[in-house]
Amino acid sequence: MTAVRPDIAPKQAPEATRFPTGFVWGAATAAYQVEGAAAEDGRTPSIWDTFSRTPGKVRNGDTGDIAADHYHLYRDDVALMKRLGLKAYRFSISWSRVQPTGRGPAVERGLDFYRKLVDELLEAGITPVATLYHWDLPQELEDAGGWPQRVTADRFADYAAIMAGALGDRVGTWTTFNEPWCSAFLGYGSGVHAPGRTEPASALRAAHHLNLAHGRAIEVLRGQLPAAVQTSVTLNLHQVRPLTASAADADSARRIDAVGNRIFTGPMLRGEYPEDLIADTRHLVDWSQLVRDGDLAAISRPVDVLGVNYYTPTLVSTPAEGAGDTRNDGHGASDHSPWPGSEHVAFHLAEGKERTAMNWSIDPNGLYSLLMDVTRDHPGLPLMVTENGAAFDDYVSPEGRVEDPERIAYLHGHLDAVQRAVADGADVRGYFLWSLMDNFEWAYGYSKRFGAVYVDYASQRRIPKASAHWYADVIRRHGLPQTGPA
Ligand code: FCB
Repeated sequence: MTAVRPDIAPKQAPEATRFPTGFVWGAATAAYQVEGAAAEDGRTPSIWDTFSRTPGKVRNGDTGDIAADHYHLYRDDVALMKRLGLKAYRFSISWSRVQPTGRGPAVERGLDFYRKLVDELLEAGITPVATLYHWDLPQELEDAGGWPQRVTADRFADYAAIMAGALGDRVGTWTTFNEPWCSAFLGYGSGVHAPGRTEPASALRAAHHLNLAHGRAIEVLRGQLPAAVQTSVTLNLHQVRPLTASAADADSARRIDAVGNRIFTGPMLRGEYPEDLIADTRHLVDWSQLVRDGDLAAISRPVDVLGVNYYTPTLVSTPAEGAGDTRNDGHGASDHSPWPGSEHVAFHLAEGKERTAMNWSIDPNGLYSLLMDVTRDHPGLPLMVTENGAAFDDYVSPEGRVEDPERIAYLHGHLDAVQRAVADGADVRGYFLWSLMDNFEWAYGYSKRFGAVYVDYASQRRIPKASAHWYADVIRRHGLPQTGPA
């Protein structure tokens, strides 16, 4: 990130100042979830446009056609971010807006939107943090086979070059992918996300090509960007816990850790696929064919910072041990598993924990453990919490306010966990709340509200929730208030 400016240096009492100097306070969104303007200025459909139009795939038949209309309202949205005191804004770029066919030259009108957004952010003193891919593959590339095809990685590297050329030096951090696990395994395994395919072998092939695309893009970005601009990738590392101390449950946890986490951290951070992952999945893919000479060297090009997204832990067992559900993994219901080779593992909800509107259990210690585990496994790796937050059933009161004490409690608990991890040695550089504002929550459509800012979709009015004011206060103090919420 950029250096701390004197005007944002911590001003509060020292006991509240356990976030490092320069710790970045941000909020995040993603293109398809907020932009709308789906067919404007040359944009063509992405796999999410197609998927959301397919009956039965998204709740209520919702689409991202209009979403939060960020495409038209970005100036107001940046002004709101400034009022809240945000230091960074994490957004993603719609590939089919800048390169409609996924190939060839860029469309200037599409690039202009991101140029204007970045200008506006810089003028407001907010660091742009851009993600190249938050799940919205141009439909044309899916029609050509999508991520299970190796050539899609080549297309992605070209797209990365376009973006680096257009905006490179004005963005603080470039992130290649957001949660490639979801793209590979929800998109091609369980099919609850676009493109909705249910092919376990294709999901594994997609994972490798997403890894390869990441490595190729890092090479391109590093070659084009000034040294001060950071590169990264964001992973949704599952904080996997065995239900009991049995050897069988330990093996289930190992399996889910392999195909949920180490399938990405292995090649990216160690330059190898884990042997146990290969053993668990060799009946589905021939890894020696899939992974070609030079791939691992490409994938393991160093990133400057690793983004981690965390919402809830993942509790697993073998099915024999109880009421667990082999599909109840918090990633959406499907008759098909997103865990190729480990389809028999059962998932559980922790007893006695409060849950969010997603039915995800609230467990800040999971975030602490996650940050400490990554620090132990990859010492010295700078980390950034690129998403954390919660959906609740928010509504506007007759007085026009949105009171969301549950979200404040959630954020307080998780920021406290970040602080503890920092105190215990994790190099966490920043925190991005998911989300800046309510938006299209993928297969749940508009039914789940994750925003710190409420969006009244019919009028597109933004109403900062109580949690937005609370977060603004945290940013001002550069620390948590002494007492948690009631
Ligand atoms: C993450 C996604 C983000 C949002 C949150 C709730 O997996 O990256 O777009 O949907 O979950």
